[in-house]
Amino acid sequence: MSKETNRRDFLGMSFAAVAAVGGAASLVGMKQAWDPLPSVLAAGYTTIDLAAIDLKPGKPQTFKWRGKPIFVLEKTTDMEKFDGDLVIGDKRYTVAIGLCTHLGCIPAWKKDVWKCACHGGEFNANGQETFGPPPKPLIIPPFKVEGTILTLGEDGPESKAMIVARA
Ligand code: FES
Repeated sequence: MSKETNRRDFLGMSFAAVAAVGGAASLVGMKQAWDPLPSVLAAGYTTIDLAAIDLKPGKPQTFKWRGKPIFVLEKTTDMEKFDGDLVIGDKRYTVAIGLCTHLGCIPAWKKDVWKCACHGGEFNANGQETFGPPPKPLIIPPFKVEGTILTLGEDGPESKAMIVARA
């Protein structure tokens, strides 16, 4: 083998090695660009375990999802059964975005209705508008249910059924 051939082989192998390293680095870069950031996933979802939050019937709690208040009410047996309820086992729940559908204030729970202090609007325990200027019921957020766990931000059959029942 001549000296010239060895030199060419060496240059060829060097070029191949540089190309392989560059190609691998590009693939890593592309994967990072395409993958959703973990923080984006974490920011988009809120999980609520209804069995672990000590929810008392008739006393709603407020959670936060994507910066919005989310009302979760376990209904008492006295409260009207509604097609738009979330039913898990023998319990019925109202789940709704806690922003008044008039101009977006946060209504407060008073005994058995949500009252909006801004212009006097009211929503019953189903989240339906019953008084004042709100033009429509409280909005149902997208969520899915696994056992007693709600995952807000993931559109599941339960939230879709609630939205249809309210329409
Ligand atoms: S914002 Fe609630 S009644 Fe106007």
